[in-house]
Amino acid sequence: VTHPFIAAVQAAAPNCRLACDATGMEPFLTDCRGIFRGDALCVASPSTTADVAAVVGAARAHGVAVVPQGGNTGLAGGATPMGRQPQVVLHLGRMRAIRRIDRVGMTLEAEAGCILQSAKEAAQEKGRLLPISFAAEGSATVGGMIATNAGGINALRYGTVRQQVLGLEAVMSDGSVLRAMSGLRKDNSGYDWKHWLIGSEGTLGIVTAAVLRLSPLPTQRHVAFVAVDSPAAALRLLERLQDSVGNALSAFELMSGTSVARVLQHQGGRLPLEQAGAWYVLLELSDQAAAQLGPQLEAELFAAMDAGDARDAAVADNLDQMRQFWALRENITEAERHVGRSFKHDVAVAVSAMPDFIERASAAVTALHADLSLNVFGHLGDGNVHFNVLAPDGLESLGERVHHVVHDVVAACEGSIAAEHGIGQYRVTELQRLKPPQEMAWMARVKRALDPENLLNPGKLLPAEQNHVA
Ligand code: MLT
Ligand code: ZN
Repeated sequence: VTHPFIAAVQAAAPNCRLACDATGMEPFLTDCRGIFRGDALCVASPSTTADVAAVVGAARAHGVAVVPQGGNTGLAGGATPMGRQPQVVLHLGRMRAIRRIDRVGMTLEAEAGCILQSAKEAAQEKGRLLPISFAAEGSATVGGMIATNAGGINALRYGTVRQQVLGLEAVMSDGSVLRAMSGLRKDNSGYDWKHWLIGSEGTLGIVTAAVLRLSPLPTQRHVAFVAVDSPAAALRLLERLQDSVGNALSAFELMSGTSVARVLQHQGGRLPLEQAGAWYVLLELSDQAAAQLGPQLEAELFAAMDAGDARDAAVADNLDQMRQFWALRENITEAERHVGRSFKHDVAVAVSAMPDFIERASAAVTALHADLSLNVFGHLGDGNVHFNVLAPDGLESLGERVHHVVHDVVAACEGSIAAEHGIGQYRVTELQRLKPPQEMAWMARVKRALDPENLLNPGKLLPAEQNHVA
């Protein structure tokens, strides 16, 4: 027999596609790494905001939980159903229109299922930059990156996704549509509710469309690959560049020597330097002005080498080389698949505390088990690294202890255990353990106010039962 929720959706939103069979649902029930798996009554794929509202309304009427899903590229299981209650995966991939680009207003309006890369290309065709870049941008969607407040390699200069969102349209837990799509740059006429939803991982409302801020399109880019002895040396290089070309610095990424070696071994590519380094920095400068950024970058790199802060450096000569340099960075996550299980940590600490964090966390992991290896890379300029711990077959069960020791160092450094990937279901217990109880209690109050029946992505970010605790 058909579940009454399914019948209700069919009646209220006949154009909403529904997959209720195992094969049709399969891709939506597991995350991209295959470590989380859940069950659902069906997968609903609406093509309009009104149909999203109809699905949420029917879900509420029948006590069905709603798990929103975009490109399913998340690394924290936030878009994968969990638990035993009846639930629907709400797939937004059919809502992919780019509704408008305003050149002089520098805004782009897109629906939630629009692929980030398509939005970037559309902006670029109009001579504008949508400054959000990360390895999964070919599949990640506008709605997903807003729900997780994604970071990526350009947050250093432009901020995270939160800073790019000027307007939002969302379906709230009661099935109503909240709309603030004028894209005003200044609006102090009340609570700025869009910020409740950004980074809320689908627990407070479902983003259906957004107005994104665009930036001027840079006319010159310079990419350098630099070997350094240590994260501390990398920070000295960062400080040097802040002094000279600071405004043009659009990426400053740290990679351990072993992370890059793993990419070369499993994904191919070529090291652009003569000798392997203990650590590498991949940095990018970009600008519109005709200023002599290239020669300035080379002068700074020579000065850094003279000062002993850099071992060796290569500057890409052309677009092809830029791509090759960046591939060494962007393939790091993919290369992990060849090694075994990756216990991921998405850590933020003060930029200046990063060398200390890396040293202490590395020592803690090594002390736990000698066969664990490290994959440390990420957005040093933002004080955010992916401190991933790789476990060979047989050591999968160490996960919880590894998370504990790494996150204890994060806490000792007054950092955050989720810088850009979110909490999802991966870090719920660790968040409970480490976030001050008072903050958790206020988060739970907000959740109860906006989703009193706990139907929006339950169990993600906050523990499933949290909502019902007085
Ligand atoms: C990255 O910076 O490459 C992404 O956040 C992906 C990852 O952490 O694996
Ligand atoms: Zn990252």
